[in-house]
Amino acid sequence: MAGPLPPVPIPGARLLFSLDPGVAHLNHGSYGAVPIGVQRAQQRLRDETEANPMRFFNRGLVDRITHARRHLASFLGADPDGTALVGNVSIGAATVLQSLRLEAGDELVDTDHGYGSFALAVEREARRTGAVRRTLSVPLTASDEEIVEIVRAGIRPGRTKLLVVDQLTSATARLLPAAAIAAVARERDVPVLVDGAHAPGMLPTPVQSIGADFWVGNLHKWGYAPRGSAALVVAPHWRRRIEPLAVSWQEEAGFPSRVEWQATLDYTAWLAAPVGVFTLRTLGLDRVRAHNAELAAYGQGVVGRALGIAPADLVDPGGPTVSMRILPLPPGVATSYPDAVALRQRIADKLNTEVNVNPWRGRGWLRLSGQVYNRAEEYDRLAERLPALLTSLS
Ligand SMILES: Cc1ncc(COP(=O)(O)O)c(C=O)c1O
Repeated sequence: MAGPLPPVPIPGARLLFSLDPGVAHLNHGSYGAVPIGVQRAQQRLRDETEANPMRFFNRGLVDRITHARRHLASFLGADPDGTALVGNVSIGAATVLQSLRLEAGDELVDTDHGYGSFALAVEREARRTGAVRRTLSVPLTASDEEIVEIVRAGIRPGRTKLLVVDQLTSATARLLPAAAIAAVARERDVPVLVDGAHAPGMLPTPVQSIGADFWVGNLHKWGYAPRGSAALVVAPHWRRRIEPLAVSWQEEAGFPSRVEWQATLDYTAWLAAPVGVFTLRTLGLDRVRAHNAELAAYGQGVVGRALGIAPADLVDPGGPTVSMRILPLPPGVATSYPDAVALRQRIADKLNTEVNVNPWRGRGWLRLSGQVYNRAEEYDRLAERLPALLTSLS
């Protein structure tokens, strides 16, 4: 049975990137890929730094960061005064966790779709403070209403000090109803941190109307920004309580400068990040989103057929612009993290194809991304060659 058709490629878009033409890069979701124009913009800023570091750091850098932040916050649909630029979502989440000042007996709640290192961060904060981590189990095919009910039943007013929930999950590539979840948590007076790592550039104005206490998102994945560009958005009632990881010279400036300024760092990624947004807008935001989502769906279909998976068993991520899709691997394959990493490496080495592989609930899952530099033939080639590679494992 035929699956979804691939989209018409966006003319010239592939040439904007410097990816190795000998490799099919079907994993934009992990580290993104930075367009050449954005790389150049960042290099010009680094050249400027090295021409006179004293001038770069001491004359106008804080204002330039403020300017970039305002631009990026408006792209995200966030309040610029409630937005701090940070290096990545892990740093944003760590900033939130340590600012909560948890005590023994407090509770941190997350879901079993959460990103692995976020789970470790929640675990460590619980260990450090004597708090308890509780993980809610959310079935892969649960409806939005069911997910909201699982969360409603899983949080406890007064006891749960933070609910951590993904906007778009990593291992399972599912869109979760973040706004409805945040509303339920608000009703019950439980603070929420939304992990929007994949949202900027993929979902339209991802912060607008979510209404979370905290939201973090990477601009360096789907936002075409240089790596090290992310935003932490904080609701007004939390802004005075958020403490930066390191105290710096902006300590007295209040939020967001005090969180953003982390002493002597390379801030050029943030200053060049608006060029990533400009590149996306030039290609056409809606056009890029539709293209990427259609291509990921095409890849899921063609590889799914090759692996003998019935179309009805292919997971629907739940939104028309979701540019990542997953496929279940045969039972017993990549069911642990080390095995998943080994399979990902084997696919890269043997098939010259970069994909993501994750274990989730006792099963291995292959994740494919779609991006403007990808072509249908790259998924076709993977579909032709992956079954034999998987057979060779057993
Ligand atoms: C859902 C999710 N959360 C968090 C992260 C961590 O992102 P970073 O390494 O940029 O902090 C990722 C990375 O892929 C992710 O997919």
